Amino acid sequence: MTITSIPAEDLVTTATATVVVDRSAVVAPVNRRIFGSFVEHLGRCVYDGIYEPEHPTANEDGFRLDVVELVKELGSTTIRYPGGNFVSGYRWEDGVGPREQRPVRRDLAWHSLESNQVGVDEFARWCALTNSELMMAVNLGTRGIEAALDLLEYTNHPSGTTLSEQRIANGAREPYNIRMWCLGNEMDGPWQIGHMSAENYGRIAARTASAMKTADKDLELVVCGSSSSAMPTFGEWERVVLEQCYEDVDYISCHAYYQERNGDLGSYLASSLDMQFFIETVVATADHVKHKLRSKKTMQLSFDEWNIWYLDEFQASQVSQVEWEHAPRLLEDVYSVADAVVFGNLLITLLKNHDRVAAASLAQLVNVIAPIMTEPGGPAWRQATFFPFSVTSRLARGEVLRPRIDVGTYNTAVHGEAPLVDAVATADTASGKSALFLVNRSLSEWLEVTINVAELEATVVEEALTLHDEDAYARNTLQDQDRVGLKPLEGVVLEGGILTVSLPPVSWSALALG
Ligand code: AHR
Repeated sequence: MTITSIPAEDLVTTATATVVVDRSAVVAPVNRRIFGSFVEHLGRCVYDGIYEPEHPTANEDGFRLDVVELVKELGSTTIRYPGGNFVSGYRWEDGVGPREQRPVRRDLAWHSLESNQVGVDEFARWCALTNSELMMAVNLGTRGIEAALDLLEYTNHPSGTTLSEQRIANGAREPYNIRMWCLGNEMDGPWQIGHMSAENYGRIAARTASAMKTADKDLELVVCGSSSSAMPTFGEWERVVLEQCYEDVDYISCHAYYQERNGDLGSYLASSLDMQFFIETVVATADHVKHKLRSKKTMQLSFDEWNIWYLDEFQASQVSQVEWEHAPRLLEDVYSVADAVVFGNLLITLLKNHDRVAAASLAQLVNVIAPIMTEPGGPAWRQATFFPFSVTSRLARGEVLRPRIDVGTYNTAVHGEAPLVDAVATADTASGKSALFLVNRSLSEWLEVTINVAELEATVVEEALTLHDEDAYARNTLQDQDRVGLKPLEGVVLEGGILTVSLPPVSWSALALG
């Protein structure tokens, strides 16, 4: 692929921008759950991904420790599990107890075989290894309240009941105390096993949520919102569902995937405008329901699937897909620098809306549309998208600040006028450290950005990193695992509270100030 040339009329003449960081423009304190991810029993995410007993680095549970190290470096926090579409046909009981007795089942969602060699107990141990919080999804496709309550009892009840004693017998004396639970997955999607109307799903979600909260009133429950802003039911789905279960749930989910289409890189680079539209629509709808019901509670958003996904290519290839394999190579997209720039911008958007988007999950973590790739018996490496995630997770501390940005726009076919720059800041009073994350969406222009950071009282630029390449379509592959990565952002100057930086075209950058 080559970079699309932009029509002359779309080229901007002003290659400068000004940004003002106002210390009092606080969006929300940084909640580490915004850096969540997602492990689904799909393709090689679990098997031959996080789990490969024959691998030289595998521990006694069969988990690859080289992957564990990369997950820690990535800085992901809460991990959604076990699906995704997979959960809508899943029987959690298949994945507990002696491994040799576990059944092999068909996974209808991905037309694969599921060996059940990894289940909730193994996954909870993997979460402990990676310092992750387990976020569990229950099956509301083929199952319902009873299976959800049983799983809750198995995982969270201390002892003295059949299911909690079963967990103890399986090696987990202490309950897992899982806080966040998803009430099914993408129930608005016709592809979902057990797909239903908003009315029916809202009713089932309300009954399941209320039963689960009878067991533990402090659970945090996520009801399914829309699978994308392009769903015909988008908005109406949220209204109907929330009207039925508003008081019983704590979050409504959002899912969004982006990809470049028709060689239109300019539109693609502005994808975060759709994410912004998505969030604003769901917030407005949730608040409408809140006021209609005279509720005192404000609904939070869990953006628990977001990423770049070459979905069109996947859908086109499904016809020839090999069926009923165990751990087939599915959705193994290889990401470019341009993908990572869009990806970094999505993360900026999540932070800018952190007052309502309280949690998010990058979908997914290993091999399947993932920042980390592995080969059986071989290496594990970082995709281009790894870098914006790991740096943002490491540097974003304290409070999220929404900066004022004054910059020109460019015209896109899909999103209309799009600002050339997007940015967000964080500041941590305790440590005195702050950070800025910026994107230059221009296809051709370097941008001179003047950033007023006087209110951050920073004295030194501790780090200045950029993700940019002469070839915006450069990628890391098995053969060339370090082709793309972070580079120093040259020429950054901090003087008298004014930071000046030059952002390369099609780039994502981060600055750490002390
Ligand atoms: O992340 C891949 C799939 O995308 C998930 O299984 C599903 O929830 C979504 O459609």
